[in-house]
Order: sequence, then structure tokens, then C-alpha cells
Amino acid sequence: MPYHNAPRNCRDFLPNKSARVLPVTAAIDDNPPAAADGSPCPDIIRPMTKGDVAAVHALECSAQPDPWSAAHFAEELDRSYSQTDLCWLHGQLAGFICSWLVAGELQIQNVATAPAFRRQGVAIRLLAHVLQRAATTGFESAWLEVRVGNAAAIALYERFGFKAVARRPNYYPDGEEALVMCYRPSDHKG
Ligand SMILES: CC(C)(COP(=O)(O)OP(=O)(O)OC[C@H]1O[C@@H](n2cnc3c(N)ncnc32)[C@H](O)[C@@H]1OP(=O)(O)O)[C@@H](O)C(=O)NCCC(=O)NCCS
Repeated sequence: MPYHNAPRNCRDFLPNKSARVLPVTAAIDDNPPAAADGSPCPDIIRPMTKGDVAAVHALECSAQPDPWSAAHFAEELDRSYSQTDLCWLHGQLAGFICSWLVAGELQIQNVATAPAFRRQGVAIRLLAHVLQRAATTGFESAWLEVRVGNAAAIALYERFGFKAVARRPNYYPDGEEALVMCYRPSDHKG
């Protein structure tokens, strides 16, 4: 993930011709599994509200080495161009993604999946959701920054066809380099 004094950004992907690039349609299941007790428990993606901030912050602290504060998540609610989307599975908060859409550019600010829900397609669903929504606005590009050592996140972005376009040496507080990654819908038409 990117790291600014203010919001962290997640930006882009390494070219990998062998990677299977996902279409931007991997949304939530139409027929989600029932909860363990058999009761209906719809899996959904929905926007974060003020009442979700504490739970989202707790997930962030469980997932990130340098977590955003709860106040930071609350501030995102006040930004007209910001959207934080939550993925709920079996009634539990499984993951979130925070993105900004500014002047035709989608900026992935933060994404995390709770450790108990990793490798179950949560981040794929969230990223697809955000890219699909941005597509309805005719966005030109999506950007993010990611630690060069974050192989899991880089692999995730590569699945969507993000490509690494730049590096930012000494970008994070611990000195780690950031990859800047970019996705252009025009590269994936036809
Ligand atoms: C990166 C992260 C968001 C992925 O979330 P996730 O819900 O587990 O990801 P998904 O299940 O949707 O996985 C999608 C794809 O990403 C890649 N991927 C995810 N985790 C991976 C891992 N540990 N190692 C290698 N590839 C991985 C794979 O290609 C995977 O597809 P596959 O399971 O079919 O192989 C999660 O590991 C996380 O929260 N990490 C800590 C926070 C973070 O680093 N955020 C990103 C900052 S830029």
C-alpha cells in the first residue's frame, strides 16, 4: 500500500504476460452460502457508514503494519470523492477497499482483508466492484502504490492487469520502496 503522511495509496502492477487477467466482473455471488446455523446470511458489498468505522479500523489494525487511525476512516466519509466499500461474508466484516475518483482517475487508497478471510476472493470482489463502478463514469486510469515486498498485493493487482509504471525509493517510513501501478481500461477493450 502506498504511504503518505496523510492517506496511504495503493498504486499499480508488474507486467506479467503469464498472469491470468480477470475480467472486471468478479462481483459478489448471486447465491451466497448460508450461515453455519442455516439462517440466511447474505454476502454483500456496501458503502461504509459512520457506525462501521470502529469495525473497519479493527480490521485495518489486524491487517496492516502501519494502520490508518479510526479518525482517518471517519475523514474519508466526509470526502465527496472518496468511497470506502465493505465486503461482508456470513455476517462478518471480511474486507474493505477505499478509493478516490478524481477527474477521471481512480486512486486505490487502501485495501485489506481480515486474516481469517484471506485467499477467499474478498479482495478480488472488492477491487472488481470499485473498477466496475468507475467504469460507469468512463474513468481513464486507476492507480495505486504498493510496497515492493508485498507479493500478495502485487499478485492481486496483476490478476486485474495492473502494470508497474514507476518506483518510489525510500517511500515508506521504514525505507521500503513503493511500486506505482496503473490500470487503463482502454488496454483491456476488445
Ligand atoms: C493483499 C490482500 C488484500 C489480498 O486479499 P485476499 O482477500 O486474501 O485476496 P484474494 O483472495 O481476493 O486473492 C486474489 C489473488 O491475489 C493473489 N494473492 C492473494 N494473497 C496472496 C498471497 N498470500 N500470496 C500470493 N498471491 C496472493 C492471488 O493471485 C489470489 O488469487 P488466488 O487465490 O486465486 O491465487 C490481503 O493479503 C491483505 O489484506 N494484506 C494486508 C494488507 C495489504 O497488504 N493490502 C494491500 C496494500 S497495497
